[in-house]
Amino acid sequence: MDEAWAILRQARRFQQQAPERRLSGRRLLLLFYEPSTRTRTSFEVAARRLGAETVSVTAQSSSIEKGESLLDTVYTLQAMAVDGIVIRHAASGAPHLVARNVHSTVINAGDGMHEHPTQALLDGYTLWRHFGRLEGLEIAIVGDILHSRVARSNLLLLTQLGARVRLCGPRTLLPPALAEAYGPRVRATYRLEDALDAVDAVMVLRLQMERMQAGFFPNEAEYAREYGLTPERLRLASPQALVMHPGPMIRGVEISAEVADSPQSVIREQVENGVLIRMAVLDRLLGQTAAQGAPAMMAKG
Ligand code: NCD
Repeated sequence: MDEAWAILRQARRFQQQAPERRLSGRRLLLLFYEPSTRTRTSFEVAARRLGAETVSVTAQSSSIEKGESLLDTVYTLQAMAVDGIVIRHAASGAPHLVARNVHSTVINAGDGMHEHPTQALLDGYTLWRHFGRLEGLEIAIVGDILHSRVARSNLLLLTQLGARVRLCGPRTLLPPALAEAYGPRVRATYRLEDALDAVDAVMVLRLQMERMQAGFFPNEAEYAREYGLTPERLRLASPQALVMHPGPMIRGVEISAEVADSPQSVIREQVENGVLIRMAVLDRLLGQTAAQGAPAMMAKG
């Protein structure tokens, strides 16, 4: 976890002081096979702030649509001398496959239901900025845990940095084995009131409809009634509790508009922190120090 702390501290340095163009002359490929607003633009802004050049390829505007295989696409693009590849893909493990087959640094920007390391880092950074620590914090993660790479990466990162996590969602979206896999700092509950009781932060997750083949919950109204974060429910949390959401959020279903826009909500700040975290990650993997043996790949938080 020293590496995670190094990234969080570097993000804080970047926040305090605008960095010089440390990545000038570097070229970053943004390869997005799934829709993304925040993650793609924040990698782009982060790269440019550090002076790097970016090339953006999305599934809708390239030969990916014509059925070119992932590796063929990557080989073609690598021939354009890219130093790093940021990849988002619907298949879990896709960034690992690419990393095994190219020389460039590969950064996972979300792979299927597996991992989303920079999201967890920016969430951890947001918590650290507000509380000055992660050790001992109680965090509730609420919603579609089953399909969530955000939940999985946060479980890894937050527990290793000393926080405790309560997972909460309907039985169909919260497999008990998932909570057990992350050790004694994690517990699962199906009751929202129990999950929220005196917590320091609530992370609300989006219902990942695109990954649901069957009826995982009766309908949106029913889901909102059981698991939607309303002002009354938020009062169960600690008075200073933060409200977080990785976005995109479905207002009125997972979270009420009132909670999303309340003073306790740090949802927009998460987006700002996302740029700082991605700057820190790019700097670490593509900057001067990268040559001295920093890992060529970031697949885990
Ligand atoms: C998340 C993602 O794509 O995994 N969003 C994001 O990166 N900002 C969460 C989601 O799509 O629900």
